[in-house]
Parts: sequence; structure tokens; C-alpha cells
Amino acid sequence: MIYTESPQAVKPDLQDIQGLIINGYTHPCSVHMLFKFSDKPDNLDSIRGFVRDLLPHLQSAEDWGPLKPEIMLNIGLTAAGIAIVKPELDIYNSSFPPTFKKGPWDPNGAQQSLFDVDDKSLPGKWWNEKFANTDVHCVVHAYAMNPTAQERIVDIVVTAAQRSNKAVSELKPINSASGRLEQYLLVPSDYVHFRYRDSIDEPELNDNPLSKDQQDLNNFLIGYSTLENPTPGPLFGPEGKFAKNGCYNAFRILYQDVETFNDFLEQQAELIAPKINQTKDYTVEWLAAKMCGRWRNGSPLVLSADNPSHDTSKSTDFGYKADDMKGAKCPFSAHTRVSNPRDEGVKVAGSTLVPRIIRRGMPYGAPMSVDPKADRGLIGLFLCGDISSQFETIYGWINKNNFSPVFNPRAKIAQDPLIANRIKDNSFDPNFTIPMQDGTKIVVRGPLPQFVVTRGTAYFLLPSISSLKEIAGVINQIPAE
Ligand code: HEM
Repeated sequence: MIYTESPQAVKPDLQDIQGLIINGYTHPCSVHMLFKFSDKPDNLDSIRGFVRDLLPHLQSAEDWGPLKPEIMLNIGLTAAGIAIVKPELDIYNSSFPPTFKKGPWDPNGAQQSLFDVDDKSLPGKWWNEKFANTDVHCVVHAYAMNPTAQERIVDIVVTAAQRSNKAVSELKPINSASGRLEQYLLVPSDYVHFRYRDSIDEPELNDNPLSKDQQDLNNFLIGYSTLENPTPGPLFGPEGKFAKNGCYNAFRILYQDVETFNDFLEQQAELIAPKINQTKDYTVEWLAAKMCGRWRNGSPLVLSADNPSHDTSKSTDFGYKADDMKGAKCPFSAHTRVSNPRDEGVKVAGSTLVPRIIRRGMPYGAPMSVDPKADRGLIGLFLCGDISSQFETIYGWINKNNFSPVFNPRAKIAQDPLIANRIKDNSFDPNFTIPMQDGTKIVVRGPLPQFVVTRGTAYFLLPSISSLKEIAGVINQIPAE
């Protein structure tokens, strides 16, 4: 149902929601397979057959009990994909949000936040130029407990596409043997290529439908808006019915230039170590922590300012207001501080709310020690109920640190030192400034290198299970509300 004036305490139906939205799977293997659909109306039945063949492995958000499924999958569709499989929705004239319909490459829309301006990151170069952005219609996120099981689930998906008689064709974006976006399990398993622990802080996804906290499930699942809190949508009409219990997935492939990052840390540590009276080895870790907001083991700078602490390595309960409003512990531009400023105070377009996103990403590509030449980075799955006010707002903050009173409005605009796209414009600060406890500053002189390159981006809807069943033709109509 869609909440209007006095929403009832109706909890979302976990059976109807794709599992990825609610659960951070910890399967050691996953492959994220992209597909193009034929737009010939005659081929629609074959596309339906493809989805039907995948349904037995489609994972819902229901508890899977003591035994994790050995193989399972989730399915996403872009606006162009929905236009093909649900032509009757007339999606481009529907109330689906404009940014979803236009896509992440739109120069006047998404690109105003994503800023893929670096030569190598330009939307025209995405997917290693192996196919066009508009070709991406569907993603199958396939998960497995071991490499043999991974082969099995990939084979199931490939066979389903082959059975479609070319109505569904796989797109392979990566320069590797398989060409696919395959998870690479680093050691330890929760680390990313820049050698930080990741996936520590996630929204709580409290499913109380009356609650209004930004990290509650209401803000991620489509169809549970209240009048006071009118997103996410679409909420009405056939598109509202189709999208209900779905969630958007801003899928972004970010190449990580580990060599440049490591060299940068080494060179800068040499210069900074004497200023902070520390060894070079300590300073490498100190600078890496100042760029991220957490030490590489995960402990937040606000809780462990001088050294990584084992005890706080997974801590999420902290803020900036109490004793770090000068940034002497965690710099204002540190990656985790700009992507979740917590209680520091933000104000953009009249809103003081801090948007949240669910992160379900993982590394791809072998590390330098295994294959120095491999393509490597992050397969980013950023889930949200509203792409514009959640994912794109945070991305805009990463690229332009001007959203909070801690930034001097008269100074040049600072950027996230770790992952921002370097905007070469005089109004931007090319340096990274680290405030110190004694009131002085360490200024890391820029221009900072571009450590991350965008390899591709697609906006998917992770539809409800009933909407996928309807596409597959196994139910005639999405159940009534
Ligand atoms: C290669 C690219 C990226 C790397 C290496 C990276 C790395 C990290 C690391 C190490 C953390 C700390 C662990 C944690 O708090 O869970 C983190 C947190 C986070 N990152 Fe990223 N990240 C990347 C891209 C992004 C992007 C594109 C976004 C947003 C669109 C983003 C949003 C966040 C958020 C929201 C947090 C949690 C902050 C908090 O709640 O304190 N990250 N990231």
C-alpha cells in the first residue's frame, strides 16, 4: 500500500523484496553480469523466458535459515530495460524520477554531481568502450559460495541468455579473460585495493514504517512514503505499482590506481614526517587515515586520533560535533566525513538531513602483488530509494566540499582527497589541508593525483519479486495492494 495521511504500521513484505537490498551477502564469490535486450517487440517473449529461467535462483530478503544458499542471484533493470520489458508503462513519460530515466551520463543531470570530467573517466569512455551506455538494460548479480558454484551460477545465467535466441546478449566490459565484472576476494576479505577495511558503517534499515530516520528502510524501499517524507517513488499509477518494494542501485565501476596512490603516500610521508615528528612508516599510515577518516584497520580518527586501535576498528557510534568541529582529529574533507557528515551540520537546498546510502560493493581485479598489470578497483553497488537526493547528493559532496558550515564559503572548494574527480577549475582548492591539534595546518600540495577512474555507471531498479514474476509471465498481475 502507499501511505497517505495516517500510515498504518505495515511492515514491508520480505518475500517480495530482493535480498540484496536488506542483506549484505558475504558470499566469497560474485559476478555482476550485464545484458542488452533486443527492442524488437517479437523478442519480448524470449526476454520473458530469460527472466523466467533465472527465477528459481532469485533470492528474496527472507531469512534463508542456517544454510546460506550455495548459489543465488538478484536482477536489476535500467530505464531502457524497463522500456523494453514493460512497454505499457511508457516509462519515459511516467513519474519515474528524471535522473533514473536520463541516466548517469546526462551532462545536465547526474554529471552535475558525478563530475566524470577526467579524460579517462568521461562517460563516452565507460565500459572500456566495448559497448554504449544505452546498451545496458539488465544486470544479474550472481553470488556463489565457492569458485565451482560460481561457474554453475554463471553457466545458468549464460544458458538462459543463449536460450533467448539473441533477444538477450551479454555485455562484457572488462579487459580480462572472462571480460566480466568478477569479485576478487582480497585478504583480509573486508579490505579494498587501497588497503583499507571497508563496509563497516551501513544504515540500520529499521523497518518501522512510521519512523522518519534517514537510515530507515522507508528511505530505501519504493512505495512507503508518508506525506511528510514524500520520497521514494514513483508512488502512483501503474509505475507506482510496478516499482513498489523495489530499490534503486547506482552501479558504478571505479578503477583504483593503486600504484599512484602508494607512490603519493610514500612521497608525501617523506615531506610530512619531520613536521609531525614521526617515522616515515607511521606517516604513510597517518596520511592514509587522514584521507579516509578511518585508519586502515577501520578505527575512526575521531575515536582513535593518534594510532589505529583494535577495539574501535568496527565502531560506528561517533559524531563530529562534540569535539572535532575544527577537524583536528578527522579532516573536514576526509572520505568518510564527506560521505556521512553525521552531526557536523549540513545545509544544502534548505535541507539539514544527512542522506544515507546502502553499500553492497566489492573489489574486482587481482592486487598488484598477484598481477601488477591487472585492471582492479571497486564494483560499487550504491542502493537508495531516491538516486538524486541520496547517491547524487553524496557524490556532489565528495566532489565539492561546500555543503556544511565547517567549510569556509570564501575559500576555494576542497574535495575528497581519496576518490573525488579532480575538477580543474580555479574555484577549486588543489591541495589537501589537514588541521592539527595545535591550530597549525599541514597542507599537502596539489594538484592531487586522480586515484580513481570511472569505468562505467548504470542506474538500475532492483524490482520487487512480484514485478519480476510478472515480467517472466508466471503471474498475470502484480498482487493488489
Ligand atoms: C574506489 C572508491 C572507494 C573507496 C576505495 C572507498 C573506501 C571507503 C572506506 C575505506 C570507507 C570506510 C569504511 C566504512 O565506513 O564502512 C568508506 C566509507 C564510506 N564510503 Fe566509500 N569508498 C569508495 C567510493 C565511495 C563512493 C563512490 C561513495 C558514495 C557515492 C562512497 C560512500 C561511502 C560512505 C557513505 C561511507 C560510510 C561513511 C560513514 O558512514 O561514516 N564511497 N569508503
